[in-house]
Amino acid sequence: MRGVLLSLFLFVVGLVIGWQFLSKTSAPPPPPVQYSNEDGGTKGTIPSFFNAETGRIFEVKDGESIQKAVTESNPGDMIRVYPGTYNETVYIDKDKITLQGVISGGEWPTLNGEKQLNDAFLYSGNGILIENFRIIDYKGNGIMGQAGNNFVLRNNWIVDAGVYGIFPEFGKNGLIEHNVLSGIEDAAIYVGMCDNIDVLYNEVYESVAGIEIENTRHSLVEGNYAHDNTAGILVFITPGLPIKTCYDVIVRNNFVVNNNTENFGAPGSIVAGVPKGTGLLVMAADDVIIENNIITGNDNAGIAITDHVFANLTSDPESEPNPDRLVILDNIMFDNGNDPVADVKALMLTQMSNKGPDIIAVGGGVGSTIRNKDRYRTFGLGGYGPARITNTSSVRTFLLDEPVAPREITALERSKLTYYGICAGCHAYNVRMIGPPTITLQALYKDNPQGIADYIAAPIRRREDYPEMPPQNYIDEETRLEVAKYMLSITE
Ligand code: HEC
Repeated sequence: MRGVLLSLFLFVVGLVIGWQFLSKTSAPPPPPVQYSNEDGGTKGTIPSFFNAETGRIFEVKDGESIQKAVTESNPGDMIRVYPGTYNETVYIDKDKITLQGVISGGEWPTLNGEKQLNDAFLYSGNGILIENFRIIDYKGNGIMGQAGNNFVLRNNWIVDAGVYGIFPEFGKNGLIEHNVLSGIEDAAIYVGMCDNIDVLYNEVYESVAGIEIENTRHSLVEGNYAHDNTAGILVFITPGLPIKTCYDVIVRNNFVVNNNTENFGAPGSIVAGVPKGTGLLVMAADDVIIENNIITGNDNAGIAITDHVFANLTSDPESEPNPDRLVILDNIMFDNGNDPVADVKALMLTQMSNKGPDIIAVGGGVGSTIRNKDRYRTFGLGGYGPARITNTSSVRTFLLDEPVAPREITALERSKLTYYGICAGCHAYNVRMIGPPTITLQALYKDNPQGIADYIAAPIRRREDYPEMPPQNYIDEETRLEVAKYMLSITE
């Protein structure tokens, strides 16, 4: 289905049906769409894609189907979903669709996957807004975006939604704000291979990773409350993905508190290797500025900075493995390091401290700086010079002035996009993630793409030390075969 979805949105046309007819419904006019970065429509806003003149408003009530409304909608329309329980996966393969939950008397529209369904919302269109939904008990993702630009995901309340809570991948110019997420097996908010993303005022807790900024450029992570995860906020490069860099990230004004939850990530996934008690982790990312955060009660370390080698990850010749030019400005840090993991403990003992550090840097990296280093208990910051800036107030947002054009997707690119949009979330080229490395599967299925196509439609349990792979039978048969061929063809 996701394959269908990708091909479908090539054919989206601007059919406009007379709004007069629909405006006869009893719906009150939808509230104006407001953004955190209000500024009279100048820098840092994503305009509402609801077309006040021609857009229709669909109303979905308890017992009805959200997907049906999406299927009937056209770009510029709004779908309002009333309180009730919706057991479905919603695929949004067209552009400029606003999905707005109606919260009434404290009752939320709830998407409930009953631990049977994989995903609540999957979008591939541009200009998608999803707000005011409660999402519970899915196995895969709460909200996942593939290559959709200009998105807004906000005010959602996501509990126990599987591997990733909010997961935009390959998107540009997106806002993720005021969401509350808990009980997520990998990352509650996972920004993967994106550009220009603001992650603002979210609460993430009782997940393995609170917020992940991975292989992403130009991102602002501000005002979030990351507590009681295994690790609070992570900015890093995963080796082996098609986007090789992660840089220009500001992490400021966040609360990063008591991230000491036992790691319950899928065995072998990258996050399963993250030590519990880590407030903020920077791995191999460059030009990350850490400012004005309150980082406290993280038992291993407040801020941990590492390269790929120390983290024991297979290197990717195309990814520079060191964190370079980080800037640590003033942060409030106390009561961190009460129970460091063995490696960190051993390092700290060399400095006569039996507590873990506020800040630890291990491995390579050049050009990093820090303001008021003596405020913190540190390890490995010998090479950090004094910071040359005092604050980041000149950067208000990384959202763009204007919406960016949709990503062009030709039929030829479809299998590639399906691979990177779906499979690469769990399979990296030569590194174990949720699933086995692609290189291993290439050996297993050499010259047999049909074998892969058949397996992914109905996977059976093959490996004791991996979780089950979810069926990919929503991808049409042709795309399954194409993606299998693609998987066998890649060399990085
Ligand atoms: C949510 C994570 C996830 C996604 C998404 C995913 N896989 Fe997997 N995959 C796994 C896991 C976990 C295993 C190992 C399962 C086992 O051994 O029981 C696996 C195993 C496999 C295997 C090995 C089968 C065998 O005979 O050993 C192939 C081939 C495969 N996946 C292909 C794909 C393709 C192609 C896609 C994209 C369309 C994909 N996977 C998407 C998690 C995932």
